[in-house]
Amino acid sequence: MLVTLFIAVFFRMCIMYAYGELLKNGGFEAEGDWQCFAPHCELVTNKHTGQHAMKISNRTHFFQGASQFIHVEPSKTYAVSGYIKLLNDQPEHHSQMVTMAVEFTYSSGYKSYDTAAAHAPVLKSDGWVHLQGEFGAPRDHVKTTRIYFQGPHPSVDFVVDDASVTEMTSVPLPTDPSWRKQTDSVIHSKRMSNIQIHVSAAPGLNRNDVQIRVVQKKKSFPFGTVVNAPVYNRESQSKYRDFIHNHFNWAVPEGRLKWPAVEGHQGHDNFGPALKMINGLKSHGIKVRGHTLVWSSQFAIQPWVQALSGDKLRQAVEHHIQLTTNITHGLVEHWDVNNENLHGTWYQDRLHDPDYNLELFRIAHRADPSVKLFLNDNTVVRSGGFTQAYLDMARKVKSANVGLYGMGVQSHFIAGRDPNPHLIKLRLDLLAQAGIPIWVTEMDLMAGDENTRADYYERALRALYGHPAVEGILLWGFWDQRHWRGVNASLVQGPDLTPNAAGRRVLDLLENQWMTDETHELSQSGDRFTVRGFHGDYELHVRYQGHERNDLKQTFSISPSQATHNVNVHIH
Ligand SMILES: *[C@@H]1O[C@H](CO)[C@@H](O)[C@H](O)[C@H]1NC(C)=O
Ligand SMILES: *[C@@H]1O[C@H](CO)[C@@H](O)[C@H](O)[C@H]1NC(C)=O
Ligand SMILES: *[C@@H]1O[C@H](CO)[C@@H](O)[C@H](O)[C@H]1NC(C)=O
Repeated sequence: MLVTLFIAVFFRMCIMYAYGELLKNGGFEAEGDWQCFAPHCELVTNKHTGQHAMKISNRTHFFQGASQFIHVEPSKTYAVSGYIKLLNDQPEHHSQMVTMAVEFTYSSGYKSYDTAAAHAPVLKSDGWVHLQGEFGAPRDHVKTTRIYFQGPHPSVDFVVDDASVTEMTSVPLPTDPSWRKQTDSVIHSKRMSNIQIHVSAAPGLNRNDVQIRVVQKKKSFPFGTVVNAPVYNRESQSKYRDFIHNHFNWAVPEGRLKWPAVEGHQGHDNFGPALKMINGLKSHGIKVRGHTLVWSSQFAIQPWVQALSGDKLRQAVEHHIQLTTNITHGLVEHWDVNNENLHGTWYQDRLHDPDYNLELFRIAHRADPSVKLFLNDNTVVRSGGFTQAYLDMARKVKSANVGLYGMGVQSHFIAGRDPNPHLIKLRLDLLAQAGIPIWVTEMDLMAGDENTRADYYERALRALYGHPAVEGILLWGFWDQRHWRGVNASLVQGPDLTPNAAGRRVLDLLENQWMTDETHELSQSGDRFTVRGFHGDYELHVRYQGHERNDLKQTFSISPSQATHNVNVHIH
């Protein structure tokens, strides 16, 4: 009896003072500790657990909600969790996004903001919704850090409960090299197979004079880049085209396949520049992603579409998707269907149809069942506030059975911040729970110093290539003259596209470290030996007594589906 009581008291103390908990009164059981940061807050018994929760009402701005100051250490990572329930809906905005956000105030007075956890869309009928995520404290000391609930339209009242912020002590700093073991092991097991060489020789040949070279000529893992069609198509830009043709096997048009580009005025199609570029790329063996059938953020929608509603809007969207998939059938392997739907819901709101995002997939899948359809979103790998929300979205679209193939993770890393491979893995692990392939669709990062940038690109690329769920990686540019984030994101510079330190590092990874080229002396290796090779197309060369035996040259390919590929070499 006494023991039970002790356990009960101990357990209750654990709940009240959870180890490492940075929030006070996260259960909203009493007044105090929380700042209202909204016109009206009150304790209510409409709670998630315990006795009370906090109701926030009479808001005038979307960012208003209960807040609390916390103390964070530079560069450390914090897990965030909380519950929120909407008390009413807003008919014009079906897709309410709710978040736990964090505000950093520097000693200069400058403020920066980050999303720590998000959920969308949320309706009153969803009841209590769990927000989960993580955020990184800035590298520099901050004067104050404030965590707060925010999100729905100001006309929506809500209740919050059971909030928590704890340091993720298991996440090492980016400079802690322990992540390399993990990514190297995935690269070894996932990106390579055995090439088993079996040599036989005619009598009288001296085996000690035989040398065998196994050299990879092409990689099969998709490494690509965004391509700017007007630049690619310009006669004078052969150096830009050559760089793409020489170094990448996948590409994605930057803007020329977006709806405003192909139909800026209703009924006037303009697929010419995109098709010219795609045909050029394909003639060099480069595969192409389609980007993007629609884009749900208002700024990305051309005025004539924004003026439509109801059936007229539905018909226009359907016609656009059918026309586009008809024209690009067989030319593109993928389509991003509804770009950045985590961050924009214009079509759903305009049509008062929260499930219109699923309808877009149905239309695209019916129009071209052979093309692979993708979600594509940002801030899901570069930071951890939206990662859980993206997983939830992917699960919903997948279970609706509307033709979803994979998740695009854009991966525009935060400017000047060292991408943390430990966190990239953590976020990819979470997204991989959807059970569908992940493509890194728009990767880039920024650092003013090119050697620092080289380190950042290497860490990020190793973390991405070294994750088993990742099927392909595309950069969002490489050339200082054409990069949307400018010279500080670039890999090559100037009129000759000369690789800088970051470019040399990336090319070394892609074309040296992650490709195979081995030479074996039969005197050392014996007649049977194994080469662990990266997937792709190979040549095998035989040298006998110092001379290349062109008659014995072989070509072969190894793919991820083969554990071992056997090659017989008969020297006569
Ligand atoms: C909320 O606002 C309404 C109208 O704007 C006002 O009548 C009411 O008194 C306010 N309630 C509280 C609790 O501030
Ligand atoms: C797309 O192709 C189908 C089949 O050829 C055709 O029936 C349809 O009219 C085309 N749609 C558009 C918008 O081009
Ligand atoms: C590039 O980075 C340097 C150093 O951080 C900075 O001074 C410069 O303004 C940046 N340039 C651009 C174009 O962003």
